[in-house]
Amino acid sequence: MTHHHHRVTLGGKLSAVLVAAGSSVGLGNIWRFPYVAGENGGGAFLLIYIGCVLLLGLPIMVAEFAVGRSTRRNAVGAYHALDRRWSFIGYNSVLAAFLILGFYFVVSGWTVEYTVHSLTGELARHTTAEEYASLFERFITNPWRPLLYTLLFILATHAVIALGVQKGIERSAKVLMPLLFVILIALSIHALLMPGAGEGLRFLFYPDFSKVTASTLLTALGQAFFSLSVGIGTMVTYASYFKPDTNLRHTALNVSLLDTLVAVLAGVIIFPAVFTAGIAPTSGPSLVFITLPGIFNGMPLSMVWSTVFFLLLVVAAITSTISLHEVITAYLHEEWHLSRRAAAWLTTGATALLATLASLSLGVLGGWRIFGLTLFDALDFATANILLPLGSLFTCLFVGWKLDPARLHDEVTNGGELRFRIYGLFIFLLRWVCPIILLLVFLDNLGLY
Ligand code: TRP
Repeated sequence: MTHHHHRVTLGGKLSAVLVAAGSSVGLGNIWRFPYVAGENGGGAFLLIYIGCVLLLGLPIMVAEFAVGRSTRRNAVGAYHALDRRWSFIGYNSVLAAFLILGFYFVVSGWTVEYTVHSLTGELARHTTAEEYASLFERFITNPWRPLLYTLLFILATHAVIALGVQKGIERSAKVLMPLLFVILIALSIHALLMPGAGEGLRFLFYPDFSKVTASTLLTALGQAFFSLSVGIGTMVTYASYFKPDTNLRHTALNVSLLDTLVAVLAGVIIFPAVFTAGIAPTSGPSLVFITLPGIFNGMPLSMVWSTVFFLLLVVAAITSTISLHEVITAYLHEEWHLSRRAAAWLTTGATALLATLASLSLGVLGGWRIFGLTLFDALDFATANILLPLGSLFTCLFVGWKLDPARLHDEVTNGGELRFRIYGLFIFLLRWVCPIILLLVFLDNLGLY
């Protein structure tokens, strides 16, 4: 039953941080965080967000790492091996990864499309906000063009997965994550030199609590979980490849800090531009695809900056889609006993089909509704508001209350080798704080009270 010694592990200490950060850092940081922060008052939201990362995201990430590394199995196999009655957490993970990929691949396709159109000068040909809005509308409703880019992106993800854990996932993270930071820093410096930089930074960092409402906490929590990639077994799967001497809580702390740093830098890049152009920071999901191209356009070397910015989105997105793909591939490979090759192709085929339908649901299949939502929106809603909080809730209930405490302690301290001074706090957060807050968030999301 156990095939420990056959399983590959990642190379060094840094590799664990890089692959996990590759999963965390994604469209959630660069596309979603700035607009959510923009809609929720900027600085005050940032503070609450950081609180959610430290008090909730971090303990759950450590818990997922412990489940993955102690079993060295895919998400389903891991929970099954620990207690078969809790296997449903693993199935929820595989399902959620599949559904997230359904819309995430589509948005990833847009980022490729915008990179190409920045490069060809197509984006620079327009001037007014209305023109950019209609351009975006035309991009996403066109029946075949976004599909082409989405399929291209899916095949790129597949290629990395097909190369395997070490040659594909680990090596790509080692190249792409440093590249991502170089681009981020270049764009941040560029943003800080803009006339609206002071106002933009003030908006991002100065906490104005008058903008905080009851739903701000819930929004911040959902954003933190999505951004960190916790709750649906991605970190279980990745930790199953960690080495026995990897320090789980340092890895989780580093990943959380990097992820938060990228979100903050994305804000540093976007808000100065927004204020320089005199646009309201509350323009929502279209901030990156409609507002920014127009802003870039007014600047010298606009083509270069917008190409580099959309390339940043592509890089951030692919390391995340790789991690979601791996959740499904590892499951099919280990539980269905398919070859890794066949498992990867099955995952690619199934997600390509779902992403195709999701992409078309924004255009020609728009009339086809699920509870009044397009397939694209339904996938986003079902994963972010239902499967993700549910997965996180059951993960902390299981690890906090059901998992053998000795086994948990052993795993997070590497068999007693590492000291964990705030272990009591970790357990308290996992047992009480996380489940109670998650339950409230979950009920609120369903609109049950
Ligand atoms: N965290 C990624 C982002 O910020 C997306 C992602 C990858 C994810 N794996 C996940 C989200 C698992 C939730 C759960 O874009």
